[in-house]
Amino acid sequence: MKVMKKIRNDELEPAILDWPVYMQRAIDLAGNSINTSPNPRVGCVLVSDSKIVGEGWHIAAGEAHAEVMALVQAGARAKSSVAFVSLEPCSHIGRTGPCSDALIEANVAIVVIASIDPNPAVAGQGVDKLLAAGIEVVQLIDFDLAARGLNPGYFKRREEGRPYVRCKLAMSLDGRTALVNGESKWISGPQSRSDVQRLRAASSAVLTGIETVLADDPSLNVRLEELKLDPEELALNQLALSRQPLRVILDSQFRTPETAKILEAPGEVKIFGVEALDSAKTPTANVEYRQFEARGKRVNLHSMLESLASDFACTEVLVEAGATLSTAFIEAGLVDELILYIAPKLLGSDARSLLNITGIQSMSDCLNFEITDLRQIDSDIRVTLKPV
Ligand SMILES: NC(=O)c1ccc[n+]([C@@H]2O[C@H](COP(=O)([O-])OP(=O)(O)OC[C@H]3O[C@@H](n4cnc5c(N)ncnc54)[C@H](OP(=O)(O)O)[C@@H]3O)[C@@H](O)[C@H]2O)c1
Repeated sequence: MKVMKKIRNDELEPAILDWPVYMQRAIDLAGNSINTSPNPRVGCVLVSDSKIVGEGWHIAAGEAHAEVMALVQAGARAKSSVAFVSLEPCSHIGRTGPCSDALIEANVAIVVIASIDPNPAVAGQGVDKLLAAGIEVVQLIDFDLAARGLNPGYFKRREEGRPYVRCKLAMSLDGRTALVNGESKWISGPQSRSDVQRLRAASSAVLTGIETVLADDPSLNVRLEELKLDPEELALNQLALSRQPLRVILDSQFRTPETAKILEAPGEVKIFGVEALDSAKTPTANVEYRQFEARGKRVNLHSMLESLASDFACTEVLVEAGATLSTAFIEAGLVDELILYIAPKLLGSDARSLLNITGIQSMSDCLNFEITDLRQIDSDIRVTLKPV
């Protein structure tokens, strides 16, 4: 049997020098979807005689896969075409049929992929199926990183059994996140808050700590009116946006008031604590209470995240908590991305700090981050960082 070829962009022969353009297009199409959780965002382009004859992307879980959408668009023109797919075509029957079979049936000549699917139900088997059917399969390895970047949570869940965690905080110029009395509405401006809505919409779960629930009574849901998508983006993502991310409260002693707004908004809520559950905590149609293993007297963050990945298929989790829980996540090394909205305001030294990290005695002990994105959002600045 043939094997898959792996090619770098600088190794492309003259006849296929345009392949990176089509692969980039497939990756851009994949990015059309705000949230495909628990599935990956995938894009596909079918090219015949140097013309794009079909394009597709996975819109939302349960909907057609990218390859199927592109094949439908291409119809008979798919025969002998080259298929560019941002992720290895699937080989298993999930909610839809295997895409490798669909490509074989359509008689495509070559399948070009950017990444191998880390899902154990696929993991090279999609490629093997195509090769066994006599189709040439090529991986453009320079696109591997970009394809993984589309789906940080999908890869993290499959490879490490945990979701990708973003921790978002809004702070003043002097690094304060709330007044001494707990008031924090609003440090950042409306456009930054709209940007946070987008982060929520991309997440499988939005997670907070009980003290934020008690202080702010937030809903933590996605609100279309605040999300402010352009009409085309809204139309493309209607289905995904009709599903609210899971809302999770870490509340060791189950103190969440039954009247909390977070319990009222549409969508499911999980309240994770460590105390024995008493009969007064009655689950409702959308609220589940769960007793977790404790670390100290609080919810063990490692096992909680593993449970979000395994029991709730969470891929991308957004932590929107105060300093206490955000610090706990950072100190446990569980934050993959820190997103700071910096508002041009001074709250003064009585106000609460961004984080409560203590015990750093020398510069060699400090926690280091690298800036991966920096932009102005109206009058605020958004900095995205990754731990080094
Ligand atoms: N500026 C911002 O971006 C922003 C965002 C959110 C909130 N805030 C502000 O932050 C303030 C609340 O912050 P906070 O620091 O007091 O509370 P928090 O971080 O929201 O919640 C902390 C609580 O979570 C619970 N918890 C459960 N498991 C935990 C674990 N493993 N590690 C740490 N905590 C765990 C603990 O209560 P139990 O032990 O009872 O479980 C803990 O006291 C409010 O004033 C709010 O307005 C600001």
